[in-house]
Amino acid sequence: MMGLLDQLPLAAGEGSFWMPPKGSTFAFEVDRVFYFIFWVSALFFVLITGLAVFFVIRYRRREGVAPAETPHHNLALELTWSAIPLVLVFVMFYMGVKAMINIETPPSRAYEILVTAQRWNWLFTYPNGYVDKDLHVPLDVPVRLTMRSEDVIHSFYVPSFRIKKDIVPGKYTKTWFRATEPGRHVLFCAEYCGTQHSDMLADIVVHPAGEFERWLEDAASFVDKMPPAEAGRRLYEVRGCKQCHSVDGTAGIGPSFKGLFGAKQALTNGSIVEADENYIRESIMEPQAKVSAGYDPVMPTYKGRLKDAEITAIIEYLKTLAAPRK
Ligand code: CUA
Repeated sequence: MMGLLDQLPLAAGEGSFWMPPKGSTFAFEVDRVFYFIFWVSALFFVLITGLAVFFVIRYRRREGVAPAETPHHNLALELTWSAIPLVLVFVMFYMGVKAMINIETPPSRAYEILVTAQRWNWLFTYPNGYVDKDLHVPLDVPVRLTMRSEDVIHSFYVPSFRIKKDIVPGKYTKTWFRATEPGRHVLFCAEYCGTQHSDMLADIVVHPAGEFERWLEDAASFVDKMPPAEAGRRLYEVRGCKQCHSVDGTAGIGPSFKGLFGAKQALTNGSIVEADENYIRESIMEPQAKVSAGYDPVMPTYKGRLKDAEITAIIEYLKTLAAPRK
């Protein structure tokens, strides 16, 4: 499932020299404003620079030619060059405000997904309670995101959707979009949030009509359908463990899961504990209680965010990574 996702090509939705591919209704609106301002600016740049250069050459001082008497005032000309830019600026203002109001106002009837941003991954909670590290949405349906942060300021940025919205701790922020291009889009964090900020990426998968419901139903029930260790491996990938804990022994933000289960863990408070079921459960629910020596206490709590069956599945998965018993 995960491997398949990585192979999905990025959604097409024609981009241009200046702009990334278009993936939502906002893209059309935003690009229209951008190109209107761009071409008006380009036209006047060429016109004004061209005329300035032309006049400098045409009316330069020459030997034996006396400077002609120049007109001081031309009311018609002055009114024209004031009125035309005024109208153009008003058009820009109108187009910009109209697009901005639309982007800032989620429709009342929209599919709601809850977003949690934390150092350094994204979690998406669907209406049936399923949580995934990637955002899956139906095509052509307004989707409203209610977003909150576990720690610091993050920013939800999807270039192909033309949306960027800060997520500030202590308050909910909302945004919405209607995807117009099926396939994979990329979500970035656009607010510097610590060492792994640049890795705070997620996929947005836009499913064609009908397929989304099937995906959600299937995804939501995997913990009950799979053997615990396998379900645990999948939870490790979709719930954000992977971001900080490797399974190949390399140290990340947190200790590697390889050989962790059953091993003696030195803690920051100087004591040593055995990483058994209860220690791992406690570390998931209250990560700051017993922090491994050499690591910063940055892990967010998963209390209330992982069900008992899910924690058990993760522990079973860790057992498969344990060092062989001597
Ligand atoms: Cu989260 Cu940068």
